[in-house]
Amino acid sequence: MKLFHNIRTIFTISLLGCFLLSCRTEPTLKPAQDLTLNEGFVNPIGFYDATPSFSWKLPQEIQKQTAYHLVVASSPELLSEDPDLWDTGKVSSGQSLYISYEGKPLLSRDKMYWKVRFWNAEDQPSTWSEIAQMELGLLQNEDWQAKWIGLNTRKDSIKGKSNIIIHTPQYLRKEFEVNKQLVSAKLYVTAKGVFKGFINGKAISEDVMSPGWTPYQKRIESLTYDVTDLLKEGDNAIGFQLASGWHFGRLLWNKMIWGQNGSPKVLSQLELLYKDGTKKNIVSDNSWQGTTRGPIRFAEIYDGEIYDANFQMHGWATSDFEAKEWSKVEVAPLENAIAIRPKRHHSVRQKTTLDTKEIITPKDGSGVIFNLQQNMLGVPRLRVPMKKGDTLKVRFSEMLDPDGSFYTDNYRSAESTDYYIAAEDGRIDWHPTFTFHGFQYAELSGFDTSKTPKKEWVTGLVQYSDFDKTGYFSSSHDKLNQLQSNINWGLRGNFFDIPTDCPQRDERLGWTGDAQVISPTSIFNNNVHAFWASWLQTLRESQYVDGGIPFVAPDVLENNKVSSGWGDAAVIIPWDIYTRTADTTVLKENYEMMKKWVSHHQSISENYISQMNSFGDWLQPFQAKESNKRGDTSKKLIGTAFFAHAAHLTSKAAEVLGLKEEKEEYQKLYQTVANAFESEFFDNEGKIKNGKATQTAYLLALHFDLLSDTITKKAEQHLLHKIEEADNHLRTGFLGTPLLPRVLDAMGETDLMYQILLKETYPSWFYSINQGATTMWERWNSYSRLEGYNPESMNSLNHYAYGAVGEWMYERIAGIKPLEPGYKKIRIAPIPGGGLTSAEATYDSPYGEIKSTWKIEGDTFYHDATVPPNTTALLSIISDNVQRVIVNGASLKDFKYGQVIENEDGIITIEVPSGNYSIQTLR
Ligand code: BGC
Repeated sequence: MKLFHNIRTIFTISLLGCFLLSCRTEPTLKPAQDLTLNEGFVNPIGFYDATPSFSWKLPQEIQKQTAYHLVVASSPELLSEDPDLWDTGKVSSGQSLYISYEGKPLLSRDKMYWKVRFWNAEDQPSTWSEIAQMELGLLQNEDWQAKWIGLNTRKDSIKGKSNIIIHTPQYLRKEFEVNKQLVSAKLYVTAKGVFKGFINGKAISEDVMSPGWTPYQKRIESLTYDVTDLLKEGDNAIGFQLASGWHFGRLLWNKMIWGQNGSPKVLSQLELLYKDGTKKNIVSDNSWQGTTRGPIRFAEIYDGEIYDANFQMHGWATSDFEAKEWSKVEVAPLENAIAIRPKRHHSVRQKTTLDTKEIITPKDGSGVIFNLQQNMLGVPRLRVPMKKGDTLKVRFSEMLDPDGSFYTDNYRSAESTDYYIAAEDGRIDWHPTFTFHGFQYAELSGFDTSKTPKKEWVTGLVQYSDFDKTGYFSSSHDKLNQLQSNINWGLRGNFFDIPTDCPQRDERLGWTGDAQVISPTSIFNNNVHAFWASWLQTLRESQYVDGGIPFVAPDVLENNKVSSGWGDAAVIIPWDIYTRTADTTVLKENYEMMKKWVSHHQSISENYISQMNSFGDWLQPFQAKESNKRGDTSKKLIGTAFFAHAAHLTSKAAEVLGLKEEKEEYQKLYQTVANAFESEFFDNEGKIKNGKATQTAYLLALHFDLLSDTITKKAEQHLLHKIEEADNHLRTGFLGTPLLPRVLDAMGETDLMYQILLKETYPSWFYSINQGATTMWERWNSYSRLEGYNPESMNSLNHYAYGAVGEWMYERIAGIKPLEPGYKKIRIAPIPGGGLTSAEATYDSPYGEIKSTWKIEGDTFYHDATVPPNTTALLSIISDNVQRVIVNGASLKDFKYGQVIENEDGIITIEVPSGNYSIQTLR
């Protein structure tokens, strides 16, 4: 009793003491982590946005954030003492993503440092996070003192195919002095053309084909590099290699788009800050020198590169070099009409390498073939023995003809050939710089034939935009795993600064239809938030005045034509990104484009029935007329369906943006178009009229929710019938394919979807795998072991569109799907089928890792799920008997972490907070 009394006294005294001294409990919660800005940027320099948004992730053990405190300052010291830019104070909010900056205005070059802390459900604070930072790039043309510089390569250029001017690649250089102690050196740089920069002989970065591809007549992106470590006190030199790239090269079918006047140019501004506070800028101006007599003799995206080692200029980018026969550069001012803006996503880089797996020596004495056993995009690294004066010729191909010869018909007019001319005997170590190829095989001739070819001679340098992998999927089914791998390689093969249709032929363009089809799958696989947001800017800039969206962006076709299902990328992709990231900026930025596209639909409709041109259900198998690539689904039906859908998504976007009236307006428009659609294309029995009844026709109507309830039910049955007629095969092209899994899933027909997915015969996903595919193919029958290649030269073996089924694999086989934007609420509901005994997926969502892993052993179904912090999940359990389910070691009926919210149709759904769940179900 006495003891108790003493304890009570001590407790009361300390409480009182605490009250008087206002002592607080020390924060014990671990800090927030993974601090990012905007679309996932980590400590960016040369950043593009002066009003960024802030995001962080909570430690795994935290279920919920109830408040946050964010501080932003112009130096790390001020951040702790007196944040001079922004201090939010404690904000009661669960929001941990995209908090918009509302602090002091920031200008070009400004730096900011920031950190955050949060409070959990019990109102306990975390410790402060680590400090993150950002530095802005040059945000306005006025920030540039530099001028465009380069040689006039037009006058002595070769006329190539038809009217193409081939610009000889040039080398530009300048020497300068660093005469005081340096604190920092920032290089701001871009080009008309593509460049690679060097300081004192060292490459300034690993970026490839910089600055990438934007609508150059409106906007060119600049890059920022911290080059402090490359400089030294005394004499220094800066240099650039410069080639045509997309800006001055040939694109499409022998066309020059922007390069009709002038020659490639560089814009470079090196800003030095000395310790004494003084500054010095080394800018591109008329003091620079240039030459076209460097070793890169030729470089074109489609055609390849020629490197002549006899032209090597050792040390040309160092201050020890004597630039004897170099000329003075031409100088041009910045144009007002072209905005130079910081790049808003990551440059292309070499992301991985592929070794040669097999060497094939054809009997006919032609070149030796190196097989990487994986179709890829990038360049080869060649470490090949050569004899002085000989020319190494490297050709590429995605696959071989059955007789072992090279299949290059599908490159069409793209020469896709590299040459290296040796200046001495010995082993070269070289890769091309200003071209890229889509290939699996490299054929070499012209090497030192006294040496036996070795696998080390050729390595594939795989290049794509520098994003991280975020999602993984695997299962007990080998071919499904191969399909997942092919989907991934399809993305790697076509995310080359912009989303392209294919990486190998004379095309490689930003086709809008292909992009809208693949966006959800791509977002699961990779952190492509910034990649898409950036391309959407390009799309906005490419929109025609009448609201039309071109076939490709950047718009190099310039034909003022539109296609339904293609232009709809303008509404579908922003919505896809928003639902998967919760980033409302993507809706804000693109809302006007969405609206204008909807009006464009409307302007080409009669009584709400679309009269718009369409590529249709592109490459649908078994079309009535095989030469017609557009499929059998009525163009009007497709156009009207997309018109309704575009209006629907725009109304949803308006709702998110708080635009109530516009939400209503577009919702009404959607309803009106849907009604017109139903009466024009469906009879009372839910059957297609006024057009061919195809799988895709039903899929569009059902997925876009265009039919009344009774007709929907009937149409569903007709769709099932169509599938049955095709012996449970798909009959869909580009537009129908992504919808097929979604519709069947919504109908509860997962078994059927498994059957279609696991079909081995044409047309199916496994069909191409059975024919040796290591990427997604453009056609369901691009190649068959029996019949060889599809006779059409439009036959890419690296075309991502059909990879859209990836979405269903993660969302249903593994079961991870967002229910609320950004996966704030998640549905984890795998449905096993197709004889699979296990599957798993992980996804690094904006809130943290989501995991769903299941396996069947005997009579037991095991399912492990991870729900990240600050989210909740609806977890589905396949059982109708709570007694037979064990969650985290306890019977579901005693489960205290979540609540059973549904027990229907053999599926029990529980709502759970973040955490790890281990479920066993006795079947
Ligand atoms: C591209 C496609 C594109 C199509 C338009 C083709 O040349 O490669 O992927 O969507 O044209 O129909």
